[in-house]
Amino acid sequence: MWRRSLGSIQFSVEHRCSSDDRGPSLCVSDAANHVLLRFDCLYRNPAYHVDPKGLDEHHSLPPLADNIAWTLAELERNLAHSLSRAGFDLEDPPDWSAAQLTQVLVEAEAAMRNPPAGLQELELDLLAARHGEKWSTYPEDILPAWVAEMDFPLAEPIRLVLQRAADRGDLGYPISLRATGLPEVFAQRMQARFDWGVEPSRTEILSDVVQGMYIACVAYAPERPGAVVQTPIYPPFLGAVKETGRRLIDNALVVGEDRRLHFDLERLRHQVDEHTGMLLLCNPHNPSGRVYRRDELEVMAEIVLERDLFVVSDEIHGDLVYDGARHIPFASISPEVAARTVTLTSATKAFNIPGLRCAVAHFGSAELQKRFNEAVPRHARGGIGLLGIHATLAAWQHSQPWLDEVLAQLDANRSLLGELLAKELPELGYFRPEATYLAWLDCRALDLEPTPATRFLRGGKVALSDGRHFGAAYGNFARINFATSGAILTQVVERMKSALASR
Ligand SMILES: Cc1ncc(COP(=O)(O)O)c(C=O)c1O
Repeated sequence: MWRRSLGSIQFSVEHRCSSDDRGPSLCVSDAANHVLLRFDCLYRNPAYHVDPKGLDEHHSLPPLADNIAWTLAELERNLAHSLSRAGFDLEDPPDWSAAQLTQVLVEAEAAMRNPPAGLQELELDLLAARHGEKWSTYPEDILPAWVAEMDFPLAEPIRLVLQRAADRGDLGYPISLRATGLPEVFAQRMQARFDWGVEPSRTEILSDVVQGMYIACVAYAPERPGAVVQTPIYPPFLGAVKETGRRLIDNALVVGEDRRLHFDLERLRHQVDEHTGMLLLCNPHNPSGRVYRRDELEVMAEIVLERDLFVVSDEIHGDLVYDGARHIPFASISPEVAARTVTLTSATKAFNIPGLRCAVAHFGSAELQKRFNEAVPRHARGGIGLLGIHATLAAWQHSQPWLDEVLAQLDANRSLLGELLAKELPELGYFRPEATYLAWLDCRALDLEPTPATRFLRGGKVALSDGRHFGAAYGNFARINFATSGAILTQVVERMKSALASR
């Protein structure tokens, strides 16, 4: 239970869940723990009580409103008055400042909106009933650890947005994308998390990140078709380059002494010729979970400026970085770099809502944005669903406590996976990721034919992503997804091991 003292009073939040209602209760109590005010921000019957121990005055909260926001605004405006109605004699002036009250209410809001995420309580039969790609591609006897979806329950603020929309039949057309407030919320989040100042008006809302990559491949420097990609790479990078008629330049990553993948910047200088117009960057990197350091990105930026390249920077994993590394948006390196960079991101990866199809493209110059919009007009790009927009707002504005909990669990899983692999499959090379819940596995020493992923699938009934899809040279690699409970992850590795016995 969350608790905070403010002078002579105390705030606490409790999450309630019964068969017919659920939601948080915020209590304000005196030093002797008598509850003076209680706000039950329940889904069906929201109400507040003044001095439930004595008078028990009971009032309804406004129905259909965001009753958490209503409660906090009421407390900010009227706390002294409400306390006096509850018979509490407040000192004049009170023994706290307005700024202290605001701070407690900010923390109370985070606690009210985010009950414990329940990340270990995963049930295989409920997961198997999901309709997403991860759980519905293979037959039921296969344990999936491939496509980048997490097994965890939704963040409560997102779940509520979806539930309310369904309950109210609130699925009309979205209002104009600019009026959704999403560009501003995106700008606030980038500033707060990455110290990156972005211009809301240079933001476009797309249905997904990969769509943005394809459009950028069509829009920029078509007269210089060479496009640099760094393999191994999330497969749609390869598809975007090839399917839009560009020429793929593979500046393959190299394994450093730190057993991490690094740019091969010297080679890049030689590979880029006058017919090369673009660089597609994936940072943090899928499949390895590498988070490029500032000095690496700065050298990359030098080459980009020297060779007049446009950059598409896919930063969808930027919110999933573990302690010890820091996500640096490529466009934040310098204004000159920003002016040639399109940054693509979304809430879908970190908050696990890829089925809702909503992403953001940020353009470092008006010219970049214009060319993008002219390349494929908005109607040809398809409309954006109302649910995706509102779930993204709920994610970025209210769901950070959920993400913090998820990151702690993923961090534990990243270690557990390392331990399990060292014990059960010691010949396999594990690239411990600095970000994301995906890990790149070097299976060369195991010599698994035709590919490791095929062998794990056939012999162990566990689905990993096949390394070949990340570049032709990676047939002996596989990518694993560890965003699940410790118990399921343990089963995944056990099944991988059992595949070896099936040789
Ligand atoms: C690097 C990267 N970019 C893009 C995507 C997909 O994003 P979207 O569903 O918005 O196209 C993924 C999904 O795993 C990814 O890992």
